[in-house]
Amino acid sequence: MDTKHEIEEQKKYIQKIQEIIKNKKYKYSILTMGCQLNENDSEKLSGMVEKMGYTRVEDPKKADLNIINTCCVRENAEDRLFGKLGELKKIKENNGSIVAIGGCMMQEKHITNKIKESYPFVDILFGTHTLHKFPEDLYKTINEKNKIEDIIDTDGEIYENILVKRNNNIKASVTIMNGCNNFCTYCIVPYVRGRERSREPKAIIEEVKKLAKQGYKEITLLGQNVNSYLKVEKEKGKKIEEYEGVNSFATLLKAINKIEGIERIRFVSPHPKDFTDDVIDAIANCDKVCKLIHLPLQSGNTKVLKEMNRKYTKEQYLNLVEKMKEKIPNLTLSTDIIVGFPGETEEEFEDTLDVVKKVKFEQVYMFIYSRRVGTPGDKMPNQILEETKHKRFNQLKELVESQIEENNQKYIGTTQKILVEGTSKNNKNMLTGRTDSNKVVIFEGSKDLINKIIDLKIVSEHMWYLKGEIISKECD
Ligand code: 5AD
Ligand code: SF4
Repeated sequence: MDTKHEIEEQKKYIQKIQEIIKNKKYKYSILTMGCQLNENDSEKLSGMVEKMGYTRVEDPKKADLNIINTCCVRENAEDRLFGKLGELKKIKENNGSIVAIGGCMMQEKHITNKIKESYPFVDILFGTHTLHKFPEDLYKTINEKNKIEDIIDTDGEIYENILVKRNNNIKASVTIMNGCNNFCTYCIVPYVRGRERSREPKAIIEEVKKLAKQGYKEITLLGQNVNSYLKVEKEKGKKIEEYEGVNSFATLLKAINKIEGIERIRFVSPHPKDFTDDVIDAIANCDKVCKLIHLPLQSGNTKVLKEMNRKYTKEQYLNLVEKMKEKIPNLTLSTDIIVGFPGETEEEFEDTLDVVKKVKFEQVYMFIYSRRVGTPGDKMPNQILEETKHKRFNQLKELVESQIEENNQKYIGTTQKILVEGTSKNNKNMLTGRTDSNKVVIFEGSKDLINKIIDLKIVSEHMWYLKGEIISKECD
């Protein structure tokens, strides 16, 4: 069956469930672990489930269906899942709710085996390649009371037109590609998400146009390696169906930049090795593309980078940053860093600190190396002591925080364009929004500014947010 046909089939299951649960006021909860790609997958699960007639609740105790969408990038997600499963067991004993566990972790055999052995009450296990079949899996559970294990190991397909229920009505994410071919030696993603495959230009452009019509202002393009969009297809000699001139990541940025209504474009994550000049030029020339670029470093040491299979050196990374800074006015950078990769010496770790000092990132996402079963890193003999990893993590954190404080000072007295996102969580009398560089800004203002871009003068900084004052109400 082709993918289009399969989605049509699933719609029939959605209708069947609609019939079964009609007038029953069924509720569901969904817990998403991990990255924005998983958040986007959960929005698809919500879209399908809400179409069936379920309404969302935050408290699993009140739900008839509890879904967990898992992540396996680091070990702490596993601990969290097993903790949650303990809670869901008690809830199920009380109210007979259905428990469905899906996502990346379900592509790991040792995890599904553990769930089947130790948590046999789980009704549905589904993987990353079978998310679109959730209606069928759920129907079989409800109707036939079957335990379902719907996990396949494949390179993966692209499924279009899956229903979606978005979490936010100002900012939306759009997955442009799935999977990864890079096989960084620490990373589990290529094993659980399959091979790199890009969506057709037309499907992406149409989705963004639809979002613009619905009033969304900010779009984040998602993929494990966004700047190799369509690269694999070209290498395979596959004919690219161009749409509005889109045949690469750079041309995709340009086409989305032209879509009326969209004010901001972000993307995560690009890979430094694929950061070609056409992409740099597109960022520089497209006014809506935010000038905060996430550029994962992982390590600042050339030998460690080689062991990680990252395919760039410390110098190449720094040169790329220099080139980007020259070509893109007001560029800011964020990054991902792993400390304690196997074999990392004190001197090699110093190189990471050196790059952080030189680049002065706007934001650094710091991770302690976590062994992942099935990755080459896990088999490396020279694993670093937990104590050493933590020591290095704290050293890096200290440096990063001192840089953030210093960097925040630069904002004071400047005028920043802010996309107003809503009222502040901590103070309902204040509004909150973000700068182009994704910094949170809190300010006083009337609620009709929500979903508009306004100018704010930054008056103070508070480590994780800035305070601003309105100077003019201006929506472009
Ligand atoms: N251990 C620690 N961090 C990891 N990441 C990926 N795999 C691991 C791992 N095994 C980090 C990388 C990546 C981010 C999403 O998660 O920094 O960019
Ligand atoms: Fe993992 Fe590397 Fe692929 Fe990113 S590029 S998903 S870190 S293997």
